[in-house]
Amino acid sequence: MRKPIIAGNWKMNKTAAECRTLITELIPKVKDAKCDVVVCVPFTDIALAAELAAGTNIKVGAQNIAWAESGAFTGEISAAMLREAGAEYVIIGHSERRQYFGETDATVNSRLVRAIEAGFKPIVCVGETLDEREGGKTESVCKTQVVGAFKGISADAAKGVVIAYEPVWAIGTGKTATDDQANETIGYIRSVVKELYGAAVSDAMRIQYGGSMNPKNVEGLMAKPEIDGGLIGGASLKSDDFSYIVNKA
Ligand code: PGA
Repeated sequence: MRKPIIAGNWKMNKTAAECRTLITELIPKVKDAKCDVVVCVPFTDIALAAELAAGTNIKVGAQNIAWAESGAFTGEISAAMLREAGAEYVIIGHSERRQYFGETDATVNSRLVRAIEAGFKPIVCVGETLDEREGGKTESVCKTQVVGAFKGISADAAKGVVIAYEPVWAIGTGKTATDDQANETIGYIRSVVKELYGAAVSDAMRIQYGGSMNPKNVEGLMAKPEIDGGLIGGASLKSDDFSYIVNKA
């Protein structure tokens, strides 16, 4: 049995003061969770979030990681910086990074390699756009992204990576993939992982759904056998909504 994982992706929201309020509210509300609980916060909130969450069941993550160890990479953040700040997880290849900041399967792969080397728990995002879904390309797009992300990564390392399947058309739009669409595509992604690494890895790997997951649809999605949790954007910014999702998972 795979343990579900619910991760909040705060994106570019919450100052440190707001982070303090949200984490403080969350701690008692998620303390009995049966799933792994993660909050992926802005870089400037990581140290505070880690300090507040210490000794609780909330783990802290970042939203990006550089492939280089250090040096002339203006605007990037290194593994050592993230580790010292207290991050344990890191989101890699979110569709907003791909859409607005030029991330490609190759940069996603480089970041993933570095995150694994540095001992982080990566959450790698894949998913198709609306045009791609309507053009019947959902599977080929997801396959290309998964194969690209995991290039050169060993089976042993791959097992600990979480994949987030996030159809781009469902992110922040209020449109969720239906339970069956999400389950089917995640099942397909699992079959790609199986082709790459065999059944032991594909059976163990946790694959989340992301895209307008909220208190209203969490139960239906989590009831599906392939869906091992969620990457939650908008609904992770309110302690009531996020804790509701966590406690249903
Ligand atoms: P959303 O974002 O829940 O606001 O759709 C999910 C994500 O982008 O990770």
